Amino acid sequence: MTKILLTGGAGFLGSHLCDRLVADGQDVLCVDNFFTGSKANIAHLYGNPLFEVLRHDVTFPLYVEVEQIYNLACPASPVHYQFDPVQTTKTSVHGAINMLGLAKRVKARILQASTSEVYGDPEVHPQPEGYWGRVNPIGIRSCYDEGKRCAETLFFDYHRQHGLDIRIARIFNTYGPRMQPNDGRVVSNFIVQALQGADITIYGDGRQSRSFCYVDDLIEALVRLMALGQPFTGPVNIGNPTEFTMLELAETVLRLTASRSRIVYRNLPQDDPRQRRPDISLARGQLQWEPRVSLEDGLKETIAYFSRTLRLS
Ligand SMILES: NC(=O)c1ccc[n+]([C@@H]2O[C@H](COP(=O)([O-])OP(=O)(O)OC[C@H]3O[C@@H](n4cnc5c(N)ncnc54)[C@H](O)[C@@H]3O)[C@@H](O)[C@H]2O)c1
Repeated sequence: MTKILLTGGAGFLGSHLCDRLVADGQDVLCVDNFFTGSKANIAHLYGNPLFEVLRHDVTFPLYVEVEQIYNLACPASPVHYQFDPVQTTKTSVHGAINMLGLAKRVKARILQASTSEVYGDPEVHPQPEGYWGRVNPIGIRSCYDEGKRCAETLFFDYHRQHGLDIRIARIFNTYGPRMQPNDGRVVSNFIVQALQGADITIYGDGRQSRSFCYVDDLIEALVRLMALGQPFTGPVNIGNPTEFTMLELAETVLRLTASRSRIVYRNLPQDDPRQRRPDISLARGQLQWEPRVSLEDGLKETIAYFSRTLRLS
């Protein structure tokens, strides 16, 4: 049994990772300030002797004894990370410093949940890990993008300077049950609009593309990355390379929900990338991993989840 600290453990991805680690028989300490996470995401784990929760903000130091750290704390959707952009940068940067300091003290292996946003609005398509990105340092998304880039820098400097065992996952768009209905991410937006019979809003002309990874596939990759015996720092792209346009996604959601919603078009927000697709050759080679869940199957699970939660609210 490994003692594992999971920051951001009450969030969308974090709560699925808590489930997985507890199911694997690990001893999990979930740390969260509940900014975007919720107790409802982890309530089913209360009372399990393998699971503990601590309300804590990672911008402050934390002293606990653990063997592995998954650092996921950070609001991930634009609505939430732009709500208090200074706190977003602090969460990424001070949070990384605090967690790296802890990892150094207790000699823990530490994994950072980084993001495809480090590539910004890319000129290279699909994006391999060697691509340095094209990020606006002063835009409204910069608190998130540059915060995550700086966190990667800190991870590598702790690795080079102090010999820390680091793992960096660059996560691409992930979706699934426990996403928040109002967080502005495209999959949850479309599903909620379709279920409520509201207009489906497409920003831009609908031809911009994204790739969507189902949460179970993503969690499998994070666990494999952490478990990898040989030294492997990453960064490694984790995502689903199958690309869909926003219009294709909207039409699939309409079909699966049998909704009569109309599709309407709005202006594209500032710095919104036109295309985003991971090159996952490195993950395939190093982790023997690739996504298994099709968009259609993942959407069905997610739609079922939103149907239940919207009925309850
Ligand atoms: N979901 C995705 O598609 C995606 C893509 C790329 C990267 N990521 C990264 O994965 C991680 C998890 O994302 P998510 O989608 O689960 O988002 P989320 O907002 O659901 O989860 C983030 C969690 O971190 C917590 N948190 C925020 N600030 C904190 C702080 N200062 N101290 C302690 N806890 C804090 C929140 O309360 C929440 O529980 C994030 O670091 C995000 O940047 C997610």
